[in-house]
Formats: sequence, structure tokens, C-alpha cells
Amino acid sequence: MKHLIIAIDGPAAAGKGTLARQLAETLELPYLDTGLLYRAVARRVLNAGGNPEIDGPEHAQQLLPEDLHRDDLRVPEVDRAASLVARDAEVRSALLERQRIFGRARGAVVDGRDIGTVVFPDAHAKFFITASPEVRAQRRYEQRHGSACADSNALAKEIAALNARDEQDASRATAPLRPAEDAVKIVTDHLDAASVLAKVCQILQERGLIRI
Ligand code: CDP
Repeated sequence: MKHLIIAIDGPAAAGKGTLARQLAETLELPYLDTGLLYRAVARRVLNAGGNPEIDGPEHAQQLLPEDLHRDDLRVPEVDRAASLVARDAEVRSALLERQRIFGRARGAVVDGRDIGTVVFPDAHAKFFITASPEVRAQRRYEQRHGSACADSNALAKEIAALNARDEQDASRATAPLRPAEDAVKIVTDHLDAASVLAKVCQILQERGLIRI
């Protein structure tokens, strides 16, 4: 299982992070959440009073390890700003080598938008995780508020925000959100986290990549 690289891509709040974290734990591989890099760049831009559409590159160059450990990276204003800084080709290239160095050191489970297409096109296995906007919005709401959303207006707002971000991520010129040709697509509307993990492990086992 040495230096195995597993790419997990998909739209916002599809459950990539949960799967990637659990898979990394199961396989005893390091886990890299690449969304955190873009979020940390966005946070720096916002805190400096900058414009996420313009000022991403200087902050991506200056990104420090401690920027990734802030507790204010998963808030709505950073969701929006991260997607804006992520459109910038200079930001993406500043972050690319960090991701590759991390993955190559000991192998990794890596989640993001362009892992199977750009960051690790030679990954040993690639998965593209999706779910309907309604399911993803409900999951994101629960993640943030700790309970299911019963307010249809709040849910509609969450759906609109996710759709806007996906549209922005999928339409950018550099490394857009899209499945790699050789990615296994998994729709998770009717699957809980344990079932998705089991499915992925089964595929890896069938391919002779892991032994469980
Ligand atoms: O957790 P969630 O799916 O909502 O988002 P995330 O994975 O933390 O990513 C935040 C934003 O970073 C995304 O909307 C993308 O714009 C950007 N991103 C990217 O462009 N490429 C990646 N490999 C990972 C994230």
C-alpha cells in the first residue's frame, strides 16, 4: 500500500471530506483537504481588506502552515471568496507543488475539485462524489447548525449558494470542477457515509490496491 494516491473530487458539500478522512484513517494514509488551501488564501485576502478576484496570488505565495489551522475557514463568506481566489491561475499554480509534495512524500487521500484531472492525473484510483443540490444543502446545513433544516427558505438559500459556487468552479478556465475520464462516479443521495466508504474500499480491493 506504499505511496498510494487516491483522488476524491466532486462539487461542494458532496461528502468528499468525510469520505476522504475516513478512508485515510482506514488505510493509514495521510489526508490532504485541498479546499482548505483555497479557503486559507481567501481568509488572508479578506482579513487584509483585499479583493478575492485580484489579490489571491500574493497571499497564496505567503501562505503559512498556521493559516490552515484557523477556526474561521468554513464560514459562508469564505466559501464564496475561496471559489473566487480559486479561479486565478496564479493562485492555482502557487498551490500546485505543495499538494504534489505532500502526496508524494508518503502517499495520500486527497480531496478537491481538480485532483484527478490536474494535481494527480496518475493517481492510483479516482472517485467523483456527487449528490443532488437538495441533499448537499441539507448536509451542509446540518454540518453548520448541528441539526436538520426544517426552514424551506433557509434550505433554498443554501441550495442557491451551493449552485452558484459549483457553477463558478465548473466554468473557470483553469482546472475546472469536472470528473476525470477514469474516475468512478458515486452518487450519494441514498448512501450514508459508512456505505460510501464501504463501496470505495470494495472497489480498491477489487483492483488489488488494498487488502482489508
Ligand atoms: O467543503 P466544500 O466542498 O464546500 O468546499 P472545499 O472543498 O473546502 O473547497 C472550497 C473552494 O475551494 C471550492 O469551492 C473551490 O472553488 C476551491 N477548490 C478548488 O478550486 N480546487 C480544489 N482542489 C479544492 C477546492
